[in-house]
Amino acid sequence: MAARTIRTQVGIVGAGPAGLLLSHLLHLEGIESVVIESQSRAHIEERVRAGVLEQGTVDLLNAAGVGERMRREGLVHHGIELRFQHRGHRIDFQELTPGRAITVYAQHEVVKDLVQARLAAGGQVLFQVQDVAIGALEDDSAQIRFRHNDEDCRIACDYIAGCDGFHGICRSSVPQGVFRFYEKTYPFGWLGILAEAKPASGELIYANHERGFALLSMRTPKISRLYLQCRPDEDLSQWPDERIWEELQRRVESVDGFRVNEGPILQRGVTAMRSFVAEPMQYGRLFLAGDAAHIVPATGAKGLNLAAADVRVLAHALACRFRTGSGERLQGYSEICLRRVWRAQHFSWWMTSMMHRFEGSDGFDHRRQLAELDQVISSRSAAATLAENYTGLPFQLPGEEL
Ligand code: APR
Ligand code: PHB
Repeated sequence: MAARTIRTQVGIVGAGPAGLLLSHLLHLEGIESVVIESQSRAHIEERVRAGVLEQGTVDLLNAAGVGERMRREGLVHHGIELRFQHRGHRIDFQELTPGRAITVYAQHEVVKDLVQARLAAGGQVLFQVQDVAIGALEDDSAQIRFRHNDEDCRIACDYIAGCDGFHGICRSSVPQGVFRFYEKTYPFGWLGILAEAKPASGELIYANHERGFALLSMRTPKISRLYLQCRPDEDLSQWPDERIWEELQRRVESVDGFRVNEGPILQRGVTAMRSFVAEPMQYGRLFLAGDAAHIVPATGAKGLNLAAADVRVLAHALACRFRTGSGERLQGYSEICLRRVWRAQHFSWWMTSMMHRFEGSDGFDHRRQLAELDQVISSRSAAATLAENYTGLPFQLPGEEL
């Protein structure tokens, strides 16, 4: 039976932050797109993920008209704390950067705001699609095939955006040898919990401790988001609530008797720590964005922000292509994005290697980390480097100088 054909300008695979924001930015440029997503709307709107937005991401969401709830509910932070040897040291973003801040606002809240904006504008987001396959990437127009509501469907489009995350199908649909992959897997993961407990500190605390890294973050004034360094294949059944709280208390203990506020654990999970980059981020009519093209370890809080930066560049380049007929900006897509991606990779790797416990060392690594942390808290330029990277590098569009 013939497939139902949907004709659009840009076919977008994946309704994470990358796919949804791209669709919305394209809409603002007068460009049509259709988003397909393998999960349900409820699933993507509830999935607990990252939660730190750089200043540039906040500005982008505001400029795109989807920042209203974020401005109301997001928590603006002007610094973070680094804690080691039982003492806290504040990195003051306002003093060290030109007035930049970060906003704590959960990724799934961003996703909710974007889905709502797309649907309100009559945008098409098809959930629970199956058997997705992309093709004709080198032809005059590309296509995406899938099943939706028991019907065979086909999107015929000028370009495809592969926004389908690390495990998606777009990257692997490209002939072997086109992409070069760079990968680094860290010998640990993070055990993360969401707890109904008032955050113990007004700002995030990154703790380096002999027993391993811990991070105190938050989602709202009543909900804490807390992480512990663990084995990459950690068995959650070995972690009853009491053990999680005890371990958190130990890793963030400080000379002033600091305690983490405890409460019911609402959600828990283990995340692997890895760095990954696919180069280039495009092939023919396919453009990869977000986690489909790169993964950073969570220590630098960069994953969501990189996804937003990619699609900002892509929306701009596609708009130039449709307005002027010139594909020059599209050709420059990977180069512009990869510059930022590699800077974020470096920062995330640096934060990761400065804060985590590395097994098998005779203590050398720990002493080296303490020296590095000492430099960050005592040298203004070292602290400023951390603050600049953490709050976000400036955006660059093709043709612009940084
Ligand atoms: N077809 C359709 N959708 C798919 C397919 C497929 N074959 N494979 C995956 N998807 C969907 C996933 O269900 C998910 O909703 O693609 C979406 C990808 O979204 P994300 O994984 O959130 O990736 P991205 O939008 O790039 O956002 C990056 O997510 O993992 C975090 O730390 C990361 O914060 C960063 C952000
Ligand atoms: C989070 O709140 O989930 C979070 C914060 C900072 C990070 C990573 C995750 O570096």
